[in-house]
Amino acid sequence: MDYDTPLFFHVMSYAMEAEHDVIDMVSGNPDWGSPPGISDGLHEYADLGGADFQYPPSEGLRELREEIAARRDVDQSQVVVTCGGGEANYLAMARAMERESGDEFILTDPVYPYYPGKTKMLGATARFVATDEDGTLSPEAVREQASENTAGIVVNSPNNPTGAVYDEETMREFVSIAEEYDALLVSDEVYDHFDFSGKFTSALSFDSDNRIVTNSFSKTLAITGFRVGYAIFPPELVDVAKTRHMLTNVATSRPAQYAVLHALRETTPEYHEENRQLLKSRVETFTSALDAAGADYSEPDGAFYVMARFPDFPGTLSNVEKLIDEAGVAGMPGEAFGSSRDDWVRFALVTPEVEEAAERLADYFG
Ligand SMILES: Cc1ncc(COP(=O)(O)O)c(C=O)c1O
Repeated sequence: MDYDTPLFFHVMSYAMEAEHDVIDMVSGNPDWGSPPGISDGLHEYADLGGADFQYPPSEGLRELREEIAARRDVDQSQVVVTCGGGEANYLAMARAMERESGDEFILTDPVYPYYPGKTKMLGATARFVATDEDGTLSPEAVREQASENTAGIVVNSPNNPTGAVYDEETMREFVSIAEEYDALLVSDEVYDHFDFSGKFTSALSFDSDNRIVTNSFSKTLAITGFRVGYAIFPPELVDVAKTRHMLTNVATSRPAQYAVLHALRETTPEYHEENRQLLKSRVETFTSALDAAGADYSEPDGAFYVMARFPDFPGTLSNVEKLIDEAGVAGMPGEAFGSSRDDWVRFALVTPEVEEAAERLADYFG
């Protein structure tokens, strides 16, 4: 099979090899620090040794699964603890294919690039539905692409890269389209703690056998290196997913799961609120500078990305390299996210240097 290396790796290494100072706005690695429960949990774990250093249950530490199940109001048997949201999405999409009720995935354009990558890896075909310029995804447009060939519909709210957050009615519609076409809705909710609009609705709000919700602690607890996420399956779909998880990974890292459990118990809502406030102020700083640079931009309702379109400067890989070389700011080319955002560049607001980056862009284009 011909796998495409994600463009992300190329841009990251180009920026890292630059000899001058480059502000990294490529990756989605939070810079605001994890809650103290993470390092406390790791220290506590380090002293356990013995049996606690051996394989955890494949589907995840029992207490962590119980904690997740209680928070999400599902039965713990429906929860699989995965190696991040990435594996959770893979298990969910693989499960949709295993049902043999279609071999197509409905994806959005723009799209988080790992979904089309996984679609290809699973031998499925992608059908793209364009979002509006502000990232709104119309259920009607999704319905038009749905057919008996649809294995799954993959949505992400709050959205990477557009920052859109789908409201309750929209999510309800996605679930019912999946039901109508005997497909699975895969709802990737890894940015659920980064909703600035208050309208985020989890697909779990709608009782259905046709939806899988995926999530991760990577962003929520600023631990992208730990690799702990989870998927919540309908009861009759979960066992096969647990088997695939076991055969692929054996289990998810035990110390990481232990620390996440500890942090979930200790972390207060203020931690998340502070991060949202920080991001909101970064969005303001950054978009004001984009105004000064004469750029169009997305105003995110959630997640931590801003897309910008500069006059006569399409968001191609070569222009992104030019920005690295000449402005000292690294973003992601819009073409990485599908065909509809070729003209745009995505910037991740996960650096304390957002203000400096904004000034560099304003100077460069202003
Ligand atoms: C929409 C989306 N889903 C999933 C992931 C993967 O998350 P994880 O690090 O938990 O695998 C990311 C990471 O950037 C993401 O943006």
